[in-house]
Amino acid sequence: MIPVAGFGTRLLPATKSQPKEMLPVARKPIVQYVVEELVSNGVQQILFVTGRNKTSIENHFDHDPELVRTLAEGHKEDLLKELDFEALKAKFFYTRQRMQKGLGDAVLCAESFAGEKPFVVALGDSILGLNALSRAVARMADVFDARRASCVIAVEEVPPEETRHYGIVQPADGAGDVFRIANLVEKPDPSNAPSNLAIAGRYIFSPVIFDMIRRVRPDRRGEIQLTDAIQLLCEEGRRVVAVKLTAGEKRYDIGNFPSYFETFVEFALADPAYGAGFRCALERLLAKNAATV
Ligand code: UTP
Repeated sequence: MIPVAGFGTRLLPATKSQPKEMLPVARKPIVQYVVEELVSNGVQQILFVTGRNKTSIENHFDHDPELVRTLAEGHKEDLLKELDFEALKAKFFYTRQRMQKGLGDAVLCAESFAGEKPFVVALGDSILGLNALSRAVARMADVFDARRASCVIAVEEVPPEETRHYGIVQPADGAGDVFRIANLVEKPDPSNAPSNLAIAGRYIFSPVIFDMIRRVRPDRRGEIQLTDAIQLLCEEGRRVVAVKLTAGEKRYDIGNFPSYFETFVEFALADPAYGAGFRCALERLLAKNAATV
């Protein structure tokens, strides 16, 4: 499932009437990268948990006969191929989170969809790896089965002085590429942080998570936090396992402007057609800037 129901207040006014998940990074909306990543990792059914003002996400993945006809008449085969989401062989489903009561509550909206099966949660505002070329979810699925886990979380090393911006995991003993988690700490001060490994926007859960979410009390802002539900799993002694992202699987979190700007520029620089020209333009801008400072 892909939760996309959040308000995106940190990206206002850009997100006043459009979902942050539809903001472009280079040529594509962010959520398209997320979908492509999931499909290339073997996910075939995708549930979007949406909210008000989010219909453009449904429209994006829907068939548009008029546009197809226009592009076909103009012999724009490349674009037609790029917009053919049916070729992705994934089925899309949509449900609404009626009130934005936090990520935990958004995950709860997937309960009847998931049924008795384990399921992936991929945050709609985070891309893994340049152009979403990450195999992390497939590795996580293998670990989920091999370790008979209740939950597998992707984690990423962050600079130790930045732990206060992330949910940080406490390894049970040692932190290799795959390790058991003893506990989670939300946004710890660097002096109290149990590690510098941050939760990175991809999870696999067994359906037991739904009971945990129901037990979580809302925080000060009235939100049900998913990390609190995972913490309950840890407290119950269930297997909660971390899979470390590799160097090529950097997490691009576009939920705030500094990170969104940087992500856009990095992806635009890597664009096969326009990257080189953009690099020259950027260098000119930087030189002009340096001259006027
Ligand atoms: P964030 O934690 O970034 O929250 O959500 P947000 O509300 O979108 O953004 P800010 O803090 O107001 O700027 C992480 C992911 O979880 C989804 C968001 O859409 C995003 O993809 N989410 C969050 C929901 O689906 N429902 C919620 O109630 C909260």
